[in-house]
Amino acid sequence: MIQILLLLLPILVQSGTVIYTIPSTAPSTATALDPAPLGISFEFFAFPSYFLNVTGTNQCLKNFEELTGTWPPIRIGGTTQDRATYDASSSAYVTYSVASPLDAPASLTFGPSFMDLAATYQGTVVIGLNRGHDNITNTIAAAKVANDRINNLLAIELGNEPEYYTSDDQPIAINAGTWDPATDAASQDDWDILVGSALDQTLIIQAGNSNAAPPTWGAAELIATENATARSYVHDYAHHNYPGGTLTSLMSHSNIVSDLAIFTPEVAAAATTGKEYVLGETNSVSGGGAATVSPLFGASLWTMDYMLQATVFGIKRVYYHHGTVGECFYCFWGRYDMGAPYYGAYAAAAAVAGASSIVSLDTGNSSVGGYAVFDGNGSPLRVLLLNSVFYDGSGVRGNQSFVLEGLSGEGVRAKRLTAPSANSRVDQGGNPSFGGQMFANETCVVEGEEVWESSDVVDGQATLVVGASEALLVYL
Ligand SMILES: *[C@@H]1O[C@H](CO)[C@@H](O)[C@H](O)[C@H]1NC(C)=O
Ligand SMILES: *[C@@H]1O[C@H](CO)[C@@H](O)[C@H](O)[C@H]1NC(C)=O
Ligand SMILES: *[C@@H]1O[C@H](CO)[C@@H](O)[C@H](O)[C@H]1NC(C)=O
Ligand SMILES: *[C@@H]1O[C@H](CO)[C@@H](O)[C@H](O)[C@H]1NC(C)=O
Ligand SMILES: *[C@@H]1O[C@H](CO)[C@@H](O)[C@H](O)[C@H]1NC(C)=O
Ligand SMILES: *[C@@H]1O[C@H](CO)[C@@H](O)[C@H](O)[C@H]1NC(C)=O
Repeated sequence: MIQILLLLLPILVQSGTVIYTIPSTAPSTATALDPAPLGISFEFFAFPSYFLNVTGTNQCLKNFEELTGTWPPIRIGGTTQDRATYDASSSAYVTYSVASPLDAPASLTFGPSFMDLAATYQGTVVIGLNRGHDNITNTIAAAKVANDRINNLLAIELGNEPEYYTSDDQPIAINAGTWDPATDAASQDDWDILVGSALDQTLIIQAGNSNAAPPTWGAAELIATENATARSYVHDYAHHNYPGGTLTSLMSHSNIVSDLAIFTPEVAAAATTGKEYVLGETNSVSGGGAATVSPLFGASLWTMDYMLQATVFGIKRVYYHHGTVGECFYCFWGRYDMGAPYYGAYAAAAAVAGASSIVSLDTGNSSVGGYAVFDGNGSPLRVLLLNSVFYDGSGVRGNQSFVLEGLSGEGVRAKRLTAPSANSRVDQGGNPSFGGQMFANETCVVEGEEVWESSDVVDGQATLVVGASEALLVYL
């Protein structure tokens, strides 16, 4: 198996062509894939609006289901989960008041119908509940309704990004006196036991949920504090991540690899408990995104590469966050226009659809790279090739030639993910396309004819060209 690993390394020949040898069977180093690794996170207070008052939501989710056979997993949570109080007598999904419709509420209540709405979703659901208020009675009451009514409930979170509880003046931090990773871990362990035993349900908590770069506030640290009882209630461990930076630094393949590499010890720690590790809330830039980064096509390439690289590192699911409707630069869709990142998410989901395992084809040291995915029998299914060189739309677009070796058959077909440039925005007329198709604003319905490119396979080799700020999904 060592030989196969070496064969995976790219050889840069004189012409600058990158050569990848595609293993004829999945190597032992391949990482097992979740059936739907691409997930969506909805900010707690905004979840009812997304489902009831944003036309495209159902279709945008359904497009993934049609591609992969599995509805994307969703997580409902975020900062406002720690501002929310359960009100059993309320008939409203959520109740709050804000000065401007673009504000997130400072406090809110939610009724049992919130959980009924979540129960209508056909994919798995993670619900984030309040720990910050330090009212476990209220949280257990909400957890019981969630557990009773949501058939597809995967897990419950107890608190969001607890490292900010002190600066947010959350009662649990005030009551504790000190609030640091150790006090938070002890609190999580306690709450896991109290909530899990109240539900009489093991494997129910999505634990962790911090945003600060691990190891601090991370899963390895938390796991070390858990006894067998606390651990029995944990379903999986989650962390949040918002890489930020400029568009060029965000979309850089080598930056994506090094940004995600910090999670590999966390994944390994979770594996020692036999539990999964996920990015429970993530997107390009924190706080709803950055106007000059998050809605641009370069961030779409980031969305795609980031998800695939995360799965290579053993991160089971990646939940891309969707915040306040109308104030969300990184959102895949909104009330009116589509967001460019949806295209990258769609291409990533297309790359892993029906696949069982994945390998990276590169070492993560350059701006070009690739992934290969394998089916349940270990046969290679698809290869995704990417060129993260920044193309700003002026001058000649550069390109990268790739040679794939070790192929069988006489030809391959491919779908291209592209846009006029890395700076393209849907709301400015710079629509991306994947295999020639686009998604309609407002409805998220796929539009246009599918465009398949093809390339001959000669002596087991195919040559493919990927422009700067583009990707190509090759179907073997
Ligand atoms: C739905 O969205 C519209 C447009 O922003 C808004 O006026 C209305 O209050 C929303 N309705 C609900 C139930 O959220
Ligand atoms: C905690 O929640 C319970 C049940 O929802 C409620 O009756 C109680 O008033 C709350 N306690 C505080 C201190 O807010
Ligand atoms: C496990 O740890 C919790 C605190 O997190 C403690 O209350 C409980 O007694 C411990 N259980 C055992 C069996 O040691
Ligand atoms: C990246 O790593 C590969 C394999 O070790 C090596 O051949 C290549 O020269 C490296 N590229 C850069 C830009 O460092
Ligand atoms: C790739 O770039 C080279 C050099 O600029 C150019 O000659 C060639 O036409 C480009 N190929 C494609 C397919 O764009
Ligand atoms: C979406 O709307 C924008 C204007 O807001 C427009 O420029 C763009 O072309 C539309 N996209 C599609 C696919 O129709």
